[in-house]
Amino acid sequence: MTRIAVLGAGKIGEALLAGLLAAGRPAADLVFTERHPERAAELTRRLGVGSADVPKAAAEADVVVVAVKPQDIAPVLTDLKPALRPGTLVVSLCAGLPTALFESGLPEGTPVVRVMPNTPMVVGEAMSAVSGGTHATPEHLALVEELLGAVGAVVRVPESQQDAVTALSGSGPAYFFFLVEAMIDAGILLGLPRAVAADLIIQSAYGAATMLRESSDHPVLLREAVTSPAGTTIAAIRELERHGVRAALIDAIEAARDRSVELGRSV
Ligand SMILES: NC(=O)c1ccc[n+]([C@@H]2O[C@H](COP(=O)([O-])OP(=O)(O)OC[C@H]3O[C@@H](n4cnc5c(N)ncnc54)[C@H](OP(=O)(O)O)[C@@H]3O)[C@@H](O)[C@H]2O)c1
Repeated sequence: MTRIAVLGAGKIGEALLAGLLAAGRPAADLVFTERHPERAAELTRRLGVGSADVPKAAAEADVVVVAVKPQDIAPVLTDLKPALRPGTLVVSLCAGLPTALFESGLPEGTPVVRVMPNTPMVVGEAMSAVSGGTHATPEHLALVEELLGAVGAVVRVPESQQDAVTALSGSGPAYFFFLVEAMIDAGILLGLPRAVAADLIIQSAYGAATMLRESSDHPVLLREAVTSPAGTTIAAIRELERHGVRAALIDAIEAARDRSVELGRSV
């Protein structure tokens, strides 16, 4: 039995609690903390999981998952430090906060694992990248992979790659939303009703994503398979290349990585 405390039950914290319950964790092994009593009561009603304040939740937990906004971290560490039992694993879902920040604010030797999840966690399809801090063992990492596995896929990366992860999968869903939005506009330009254009594009995105995940073929091969000589797709691809869309995506993701580094320096 592993008791898990989720500190901050906002979008990500709630999604994790729901995923853990769906994966068969008993509600009695879970607890969360929230600043607003009405939100806490509503969550308890909906999920059947109890709430507590940070010191109480932390003192009884084997794993403490921190899911507050990065700017709210200071008071949480202040509350956690005296409450943590030796050996309690601290898992941070806070974008951009290094494991060293937790290690310096918590008792010496505290194992810390940093996770970069993304919003599809709310539908059980997150992409999470995990990195261990100084005192995290392979067993700690395996436990975090199991927990996060309840809400999506998990990869293990060195912490030095977390800024790149933030730029790729952390912000990644936004790039796809942006693309879908632009393609729906194109459908409207071509005279389709908005709802029809949205259905066509969203199902195409879902189908393409499923093919990418289930096929071992490189994306180039999947694209070539629908690009016939003198056909419609190659006419569109020529325009995408003429407008530098590939270079724009590479530059955009590099800019996101640079911003992540910058934000990390400011904490
Ligand atoms: N959303 C994403 O796509 C995403 C992706 C990757 C990583 N993350 C990371 O996940 C974390 C949570 O993000 P989110 O989108 O779930 O944010 P959120 O919806 O704002 O949730 C954070 C929750 O923590 C509560 N909180 C703040 N300080 C607290 C404290 N001292 N004690 C108890 N509860 C406290 C907040 O309450 P209030 O309402 O009072 O502020 C809020 O309900 C962030 O660190 C973020 O960087 C999010």
